[in-house]
This record gives sequence, C-alpha cells and structure tokens, in this order.
Amino acid sequence: MVERRFTRILTDLPGPKSAAVFADKAKYVAAPLDTYAPFIIRRGEGALIEDLDGNRFIDFSGGWGCLAVGQRNKRIVAALRDQLDDFLHTDFTAVPYAPLIDLAHMLCERTAIRGDKKAAFFNSGAEAVENVVKIARAYTKRKAVLVFENAFHGRTLLAMTMTHKARPYKTGFGPFASDVYRLPFPYEYRKKVTAEEIEGALLSLVDPNEVAVMVVEPIIGEGGFLVPPPWFLPAMRALADKYGFVLAFDEVQSGIGRTGKFFAFEHFGAEPDLVCAAKSLASGLPLSAVVGRAAIMDAPIPSAIGGTYAGNPLACRAAIEVLKALDEDHLLQRAVHVGDRIRKAFERIGDRFDVVGDVRGLGAMVAMELVKDRTTKEPAKEMTGRIATLAVRTGAIFPTAGLNGNVLRVLVSLVITDDQIDEGMDILESAFATALK
Ligand SMILES: Cc1ncc(COP(=O)(O)O)c(C=O)c1O
Repeated sequence: MVERRFTRILTDLPGPKSAAVFADKAKYVAAPLDTYAPFIIRRGEGALIEDLDGNRFIDFSGGWGCLAVGQRNKRIVAALRDQLDDFLHTDFTAVPYAPLIDLAHMLCERTAIRGDKKAAFFNSGAEAVENVVKIARAYTKRKAVLVFENAFHGRTLLAMTMTHKARPYKTGFGPFASDVYRLPFPYEYRKKVTAEEIEGALLSLVDPNEVAVMVVEPIIGEGGFLVPPPWFLPAMRALADKYGFVLAFDEVQSGIGRTGKFFAFEHFGAEPDLVCAAKSLASGLPLSAVVGRAAIMDAPIPSAIGGTYAGNPLACRAAIEVLKALDEDHLLQRAVHVGDRIRKAFERIGDRFDVVGDVRGLGAMVAMELVKDRTTKEPAKEMTGRIATLAVRTGAIFPTAGLNGNVLRVLVSLVITDDQIDEGMDILESAFATALK
C-alpha cells in the first residue's frame, strides 16, 4: 500500500458543490454531452485535479491526451498572458500574425518527412483529418479514401464516416459520406493480417487508381491502443507508392511526444506525405495542424482551406511553448520513463488478475485489455467499466477504449512524478482487487 499523498476523497462523489452544478447541467446542457468524472473540477496542476468539494485526483486521462506538458504549465500560462496584452483575434487570412508563421516553421522543422514541408492550422482533430482528405483529393484529383478497422478520426460527417465504432459515434447520424473504404488492421492480440491480405482487401473494394489517400493512425488510440507490427507502416508506404495515392498519418492522439518520439511514426521507419496533429499540440487550446510535403499542401486553390478561428493566436502561442517544453524539459525521454513505470505496474496487475489479457503500448501510450477468459479472449466490458469507476471514485482517473470498451488506457501528462504514478497504480490495483473480490 503506497501512502496517499496526492489524492484524497473527503465526500461522497459527487460532493455537495459538484452535485449542485450537475443538477444545472442536467437541466441546461444537452444530454449527449455525457460526462465521465463524478465531480466538477476547480483547479488543475501538472497531473493533479482538485474538485469543487476539495477532493483530489490523479488524472491519467490528461484531458483525453491533450495535456502532455501538464495542467497550467508555467511557460504556457506566461505566453498566454503576454498574448492577451497584445491582441486576441484577427482571423489570420484577414490580418496575419507572426505566431502562426513561427509555429508553422517549428512544426515543419520537427516533422520527420524529407524535403520541403508546409503546415496549415485548424481547430480540432476532426478538422485536420477532413482537410487531409481535401488536400489529398485536390493533389491527386482522385476521390476514394482508405481507412482501417478500429480507427477513430473524429465526429464531423466525413471523419465520423472514417471512424469505425458505430455506437455511440454513428448512431442515428447516417447517411454517411461516400467513397470511404475500410481495410483490416493488424490487431496483434486478436487478429493477425499480412500486407498481402491488406492489399487484397484494397483491390477487392476499390480501383486503386481512384484512391486519393490512405489515412492511418500509426498507433490506434480510441480503438484500443493497437501497436502495429514493424512491417505495417513501411508496407502501407509501399502501397501508396505503388498506386500513387497520398499516405497520411493521423497522429492526433499518438503525436506531440506521447510515445517518446515527436511523432509515433518515427519508431517505424516509414514517412507519410501528410501528418495530422492536435490534442497536446496547444495543451488543450483548440488547435490542430496538417504538416506535409509542400507540393501536396499547396495543391488546393487559394482560400480553399481555412476557418475563422483556425490557428488562433492564443493557441499558436501555447503550441510554440509546448514544442519548446518538449525539448527543454526533456519530455520525450520522460515519456519513455513514465511509460516503462506504468507498464511494469500493469504487468504486475496482470500477474495477479487473470482478467488482464494483454498489456501493450509504446512510450507513455500504455494500455491493458480485459477479458473474461484468457483463452477465448471474450471482452470483459462490464468489468472494465466497474474497475474504472472504482478507480475514479477512489482517486485515479483512467479512460477506457476499444471497439468493445474493454481497454484501460493511459493518456497522462508527461510531467507526472514517479510518486504520483505509484500512488495511481496502487489505486488501480485496489480497484481490481475490490471489483474481482
Ligand atoms: C486519432 C484521432 N483522430 C482524430 C480525433 C478527433 O479529434 P477532435 O476530437 O479534436 O476532433 C481523435 C480524438 O480523440 C483521435 O484520437
């Protein structure tokens, strides 16, 4: 048992102050905006959260992966204050500003694609994905889009179509966009596929000469933290070259240092033509980016892409500080350390409880998949939910994932301390023990 230093639960959850706010939420906020934590945040610091009633939690969800550099990182707070004193908004296409251009420069320098690169900015991950498709279609003058099983690309009409999981993301929202084709993904724990089988599936679904772009998450996030085998991304690069389509990596969840490299694709020796970033890019301020080969990025006609708030100055200032923090605070190395420590704890929990079928991940992107039986691998969805609920109610927030909702994953701030990790793992292990008693 690790001593409780960072977490404390003083009230029932929600406590009385949170409960009063939840009552208003039920009345005024649309019901589909369902919430996970049974409390209302008052303040955050690093990887810690305090609620309105003084309860304290360690947050392994990191704002669903947006807080690589931690809540209220000092550099970011200072840059935002500075920007507030200058100007708030112009729309870059009306009156341009330097922070967007500086950020484009920094991102192009950090993106491991050879040759000339350019960047464009948007507000969300889904918008970045939509724009990857628009840019690739303008460049190739083709229309078809290839995606993968287990993929999550967002909730706008095209991004939702590209997303695999029907419920809740697609329920009641059809008809969907056309010309999107789904290929098998090598889900090593459940379903092995070969490069030949993927190519065969492609050829059976669509004429490859009509394919504009293949969009792939180098490590599948929402779909359950699926790390592909080493051959996979190079084989997809080879398919793109063979048939002349654009290869785009969706690194909205896996990018910005989370796996110990700036982009996860750097682990696999395969270069995309375009890459999407969002989430931790601006530490939770709405900002996404598409970075890629200059000739492809320049293909749409002037004013064909953009948006009123796209590349907002505050978000760009935050992103510049995120990129500096990754380097100067050695957060890529930290991601590897944080991931190792959490993975060891997950393996220890797996040794103790048979419900853990698989522990996997790369860098700080670590997850465990829960099954009713290690031989049949039947997903243990209810048990996963029960354990996550017990953990949050005792002080540690863990998001779930996977097509079957049976994966516990970690998207924690990379600034979390070792002692905080240990306390969080202790809470999780106790939640397993209680749930499986
Ligand atoms: C890989 C991936 N792509 C796209 C998105 C959509 O991002 P957003 O919610 O900012 O639209 C997400 C969000 O979780 C994601 O994980």
